[in-house]
Amino acid sequence: MCTNIRHQDTGPTLLLPINGIHLATLIIYISLIMNKNLFITIEGIEGVGKTTQIKLLEAYLKGKGISFISTREPGGTQVCEKIRNILLHDEMDPVTELMLYEAARAEHFSTVIEPALKDNRTVICDRFADASIAYQGYGRGVDIKLIETLNEIATKQTKPDLTIVLDMDLDQASERLRKRGTEPDKFERLDKEFYKKVRKGYLDLAVKEPERVKIINSLQSIEKVHQDIVSVIKY
Ligand SMILES: Nc1ncnc2c1ncn2[C@@H]1O[C@H](COP(=O)(O)OP(=O)(O)OP(=O)(O)O)[C@@H](O)[C@H]1O
Ligand SMILES: [Mg+2]
Repeated sequence: MCTNIRHQDTGPTLLLPINGIHLATLIIYISLIMNKNLFITIEGIEGVGKTTQIKLLEAYLKGKGISFISTREPGGTQVCEKIRNILLHDEMDPVTELMLYEAARAEHFSTVIEPALKDNRTVICDRFADASIAYQGYGRGVDIKLIETLNEIATKQTKPDLTIVLDMDLDQASERLRKRGTEPDKFERLDKEFYKKVRKGYLDLAVKEPERVKIINSLQSIEKVHQDIVSVIKY
C-alpha cells in the first residue's frame, strides 16, 4: 500500500478555535485532501471499456486539479514495450509468459509507478498484478501461490488502493471489439472457455478483497459506468 506516502506529517499545528473548529483540525483536513493520491488499477477482459473509461477518468481528475499519471501494463518504458511485443506475438509456455509479465511489471513498477506515488501523484494503471492472477492463474492454470509470490516481488509488495473491474458478458464484449474493428480476431484466438475462467478470476478477487476490488457492470452506458467509477473513487 502507498499509505505511508499519502499520510504525510502535517507539521506543527495551532490549536486556536475558529467558529468551534480547531485550526489544527482544519489544517490537517486540508492537508490530507491535498495529499490524497491514489493508486488505481482498471481491470477486465478485452473489450469491456477500460481504455474508454480511463480517458474519462483522466478528464475527471484533470478537472479536479489532481496530479496524476496514466499508464498501462505491460508497457510504459522501452524495456516493457519490447517485452510486450514478445508477449503479443509469440506463443509460449504459461510459466514463461507469467515470468515475462512479471519482468515487465517489475520494470514498470520501479521506473514509472513507484516514483509517481512517491511524488504524491495519483496513478491510473490499465491492468496490473491482478491480471496475472486472472489470465495466467485462472486462464492458463499456473499456480496462484506462485503468481502471488512473483507479484509481491515485482511490485515490492504494493497493492493498489483501488481496483476497478469492468465486468460484462463475454459475447457482448466480443461484439464490442468486432464493432471497434481494430483486432477482429482477438477473441477468436483463444476459446470462450478461457475468457470465462479469466472473468471468474476477477470476480473471485472481488469476493476475496471486497474493500479494494470493486466490480462495475460495464454493460451500462459509457456515462453510467463513469459515474459508478467516480462514486467509488470518492475524489
Ligand atoms: N459502456 C459502453 N457501451 C457501449 N460501447 C462501449 C462502452 N464502453 C466502451 N465501448 C466501446 O467498446 C469498444 C471497446 O472499448 P475499449 O477499447 O475501451 O475496451 P478495452 O477494455 O480497453 O479493450 P482492450 O482490452 O482491447 O484494450 C470501443 O469501441 C468502445 O467505444
Ligand atoms: Mg484498452
